[in-house]
Amino acid sequence: MARAKDSPDSPLPSGKEAASLQNRALDQSLRPPKLDDFVGQPRTVERLRVMIGAARRENRTLDHILLHGPPGLGKTTLAMILAEEMGRPIRVTSGPVVEKASDLAGLLTSLQEGEILFIDEIHRIPKTVEEFLYSAMEDFRIDIMIDQGPNARSVRLDLPKFTLIGATTRTGLLTAPLRSRFTLQTRLDYYTREQLLSIVSRNGKLLNLQLDQGGAEEVARRARGTPRIVNNLLRFTRDYALERANGKADAAITAAALELLEIDQNGLDDMDHRFLRAMAEKHKGGPVGLNSIGAAIGEDAHTLEEVHEPFLVQEGYVSRTPQGRILTEKGWRAVGLLPPPQESSLL
Ligand SMILES: Nc1ncnc2c1ncn2[C@@H]1O[C@H](COP(=O)(O)OP(=O)(O)OP(=O)(O)O)[C@@H](O)[C@H]1O
Ligand SMILES: [Mg+2]
Repeated sequence: MARAKDSPDSPLPSGKEAASLQNRALDQSLRPPKLDDFVGQPRTVERLRVMIGAARRENRTLDHILLHGPPGLGKTTLAMILAEEMGRPIRVTSGPVVEKASDLAGLLTSLQEGEILFIDEIHRIPKTVEEFLYSAMEDFRIDIMIDQGPNARSVRLDLPKFTLIGATTRTGLLTAPLRSRFTLQTRLDYYTREQLLSIVSRNGKLLNLQLDQGGAEEVARRARGTPRIVNNLLRFTRDYALERANGKADAAITAAALELLEIDQNGLDDMDHRFLRAMAEKHKGGPVGLNSIGAAIGEDAHTLEEVHEPFLVQEGYVSRTPQGRILTEKGWRAVGLLPPPQESSLL
């Protein structure tokens, strides 16, 4: 668990620590600070505006919000923005850190009235702890057992009214009781080319990269609809331009930089290609389960499901069916192969 802001009286860091703080500061500086600066996700943004507006109007605590969607699309960013817009402090923790009910009780009782508690990877909270969240979220109280054996008794603790913001890449793993306690459950989707372009130009400037329109388009095209990938590609392009092109990146320089990272024209990286190739070459295009694909390319099936597959499905390289994953025609072509001729099902 960590406070979002470092305390002012912490000793001055040096060396490696300073560098990592600087990186963190840079990452913070790339995060849009206000809802107005946040590009894209129009429906989610409008829903949040409504809730923020009403809570502010009545001077009450914001209701609980669940943000879900693939990695790097802005869940943490939105949580920070919500705190900023509400003018409330935010406490940041993550599912696996809250190991025991007593961790949760300690955390909740130390919150201030109106404070925002951000739990990242909320699907990873142990089930035994999750049950305590129900009454905390609904009634702002928590019943915990103290002592053991004959002295065991349950103690009720009243909690300050707080806002829980949960973030998850895997909403399917949340139990129904937990999910239903969020007033708003909102999904972030991949960004369109235009939205990415506007993030590219904003963040390119913040990173002091001289990127022309052609360069910006190269980055946007290869960023898999994901702002975090935009930032990573921009950083690498900046380094490449500094080393090889006097700090300026046009379309050709940017393309050369990104090719060095083995990211193709469509944003597919090495792992995506291996994923598609395994489906084509080892499983004749499927249907095949993620576990088999994972075994073929040496990657964990959950990682494939969370990180790689959503983009491949969204872009139509792979389709999901009850029988398993199937490589589409676009998927076959992406690995330079032709789909096998259709067999007649009437044979
Ligand atoms: N809408 C946006 N406009 C501009 N920049 C954005 C936007 N969304 C995200 N970013 C940038 O992308 C980076 C990654 O976003 P963020 O950390 O919020 O993703 P996340 O959804 O929390 O990912 P994860 O699931 O991996 O935790 C941020 O540092 C920010 O710079
Ligand atoms: Mg995050």
